[in-house]
Amino acid sequence: MDKYYYITTPIYYPSAKPHMGHAYSSIIADFFARFKKIDGFKVCFLTGTDEHGLKIQRAAEKKGIETLKFCNEISQTFRDLSKTLNLTNTDFIRTTEERHKKSVQSLWKELEKNDDIYLSKYSGWYSVSDEAFYTNDEIEEIEGIKRAIISKSSVEWMDEESYFFRLSKWEKPLLEYYEKNPDFILPESKKNEVISFVKSGLKDLSVSRKSFSWGIKVPGNNEHVIYVWLDALTNYISALNYPSINDSLFQKFWPASIHLIGKDILRFHAVYWPAFLMAAKIPLPEKIYGHGWILSGEEKMSKSKGNILDPIEIIEKYGLDALRYYLIKEVSFGNDGNISQERLEVCINSDLANNFGNLCQRVTAFTIKNLQGKIPNKVKFEKNDLKILDKFNLSLIREKINKQDINYYIDFIVNSLFDTNKYFNDEEPWNKKDDLIRLNTIIYTTLEIVRKISYMLYPIIPQSSLNALKIFGIKENEIDFSTLKNHKYLKENTNITKIEILFKKIEKTND
Ligand code: MSP
Repeated sequence: MDKYYYITTPIYYPSAKPHMGHAYSSIIADFFARFKKIDGFKVCFLTGTDEHGLKIQRAAEKKGIETLKFCNEISQTFRDLSKTLNLTNTDFIRTTEERHKKSVQSLWKELEKNDDIYLSKYSGWYSVSDEAFYTNDEIEEIEGIKRAIISKSSVEWMDEESYFFRLSKWEKPLLEYYEKNPDFILPESKKNEVISFVKSGLKDLSVSRKSFSWGIKVPGNNEHVIYVWLDALTNYISALNYPSINDSLFQKFWPASIHLIGKDILRFHAVYWPAFLMAAKIPLPEKIYGHGWILSGEEKMSKSKGNILDPIEIIEKYGLDALRYYLIKEVSFGNDGNISQERLEVCINSDLANNFGNLCQRVTAFTIKNLQGKIPNKVKFEKNDLKILDKFNLSLIREKINKQDINYYIDFIVNSLFDTNKYFNDEEPWNKKDDLIRLNTIIYTTLEIVRKISYMLYPIIPQSSLNALKIFGIKENEIDFSTLKNHKYLKENTNITKIEILFKKIEKTND
C-alpha cells in the first residue's frame, strides 16, 4: 500500500527579497521531504508566497508599483530561490491565484454556514508588520511608540466594521485536542506557551477588513476583504484542491503530516488554523513544528532590523551543499542559532572535506590501486566489521525522524564518519596485502559504509551525496533508505569509479 507524506513551509511574504531565515525553513522542509521520499513515501511538498494584506499593499505603494506587479516580481525571487536551494517542492502556491481564492471563499462560506462567523465592529490594536491583532495587555510603549510586546513591531489603532470568527467557542475543544494529541505541537517548550495562551481565554477573532481592498473579497459583501491569516492558512488545503475533498490530491495528502513553521507564527498555526478547521469539520494536520530563529548577533534576522545575511551570496561563495549542511548541523533544531561565516568554514573543512570527502577519496584510491578498481569478493565479516556495519539501526533512525530529531540524525552521521575513518586507520588495509580475505573485507566494509552514509547525507547535501554515489554508479532514483540494513548491497566484482574531489578546503582568511 502506498504511504503518503505531506509537508509544508510557511508561505512567505513577498514584501522583500528572501533571506537566510526563509532559506532555513525551506531547507529543513526539503530535508524531511527527501528523507521520506527515499524511505518509500509519496511526498507532497508545498511552499509559496502569501501576497495579500496591508503589509504587502503598503510595500508596493512605497515602491510606487501596482500591487500585483510588485507581488509577481518578488514571488518570482522566492520561486527562483527554491531552485537555487535545490528544493524538491512539488507545488508552489501564490495566494493571488484563482485556485486559492476559490478555496478561501469556500472555506468562508462553510464557516458562515456553521454559524461561526458574524458581523460586528472591531476596536483595537493592529500590527501591519505581523498582520495580527493585539489586546491592551499585549502592548507596550517604547519611546512614545506603541508596540506589540511579543514581536516589538509597531501597532496602530483600528476601529471598523468587521466580521468575527467565534474563536471563543473553540477554546475547550482545542485544549482537549492538545491533551489527546501530545505531538500535535512541537517542540514541547513551545507547546506549553500555546496551551497557556489558550487557557488564558480566547476572544472572537476579527476576520475581515474594510479599510483597504488588497485581499480576497468576503463572499456576499464586496466591502470587506478576508483577514490575511485566514486567507494564508488556507493555502495548505487550496493546493490540494479544497473544497473538492474527493479529489485524489486531497484524499491522499490531507491531513498534512507536518506544517513546518518558525516559532513566530505558532499562534496562527496551532490556535487559529485548527479552530478554523474544526469549525469547517475538516480533519486537523498531524503536527505543527515551530523551529527556532536564525539570529544575527542576538537578534532575529529580519528586513526591518536590517541585519540580513543573503543566502545567495553565501551559496556563490561556498556552494549550496555547504550552506545546507551548515544550517542543518549548526542550528540545533528547535532552538535559535547564531550563524557565522567562520563556523561555516570550519564545517566545510572538518566535516565535509576532511571526514566525508577524504574518506571517499581514500577508499576509492586504495581500491583502484590495489584491487583493480573492483568491489572486492570473498568477503568474510568479523566482529570489528559488523560492529560498524550494524550501527545503522533503521527503525531507530525512522523513529527519530518522525520526532523531527534532526540533531540525532546529523550527530549519527558525524559519529559514523569518525568511526569509519578510525576503522580504516586501525585496520591498516595497506598492511594486509598477504591476507586477501581480510583485505577484501576491510575495503568492502568501508565501501558499504560510504554508501550508507551517502544515502543518509542525501536529504542534507543531495548533490554531493549523488557525486559520492557515482563511485558505485548508484543513481538518484535507486537510493532506497531501507537498504541501509543490507551489509552486502554492493555487487562483488563490479567496477568502481574515481570521483572528483567532493569539497575543496577553504583557506583561512582573516577578513
Ligand atoms: N506569511 C506569513 C506565513 C503564512 S503561513 C500560512 C509569514 N511570512 S514571513 O515571510 O514573514 O516568514 C515566514 C517564515 O520564515 C517564518 O515563520 C520562519 O519560518 C521563516 N523565518 C523568517 N525569518 C526567520 C529567521 N530569522 N530565522 C528563521 N526563520 C525565520 O510569517
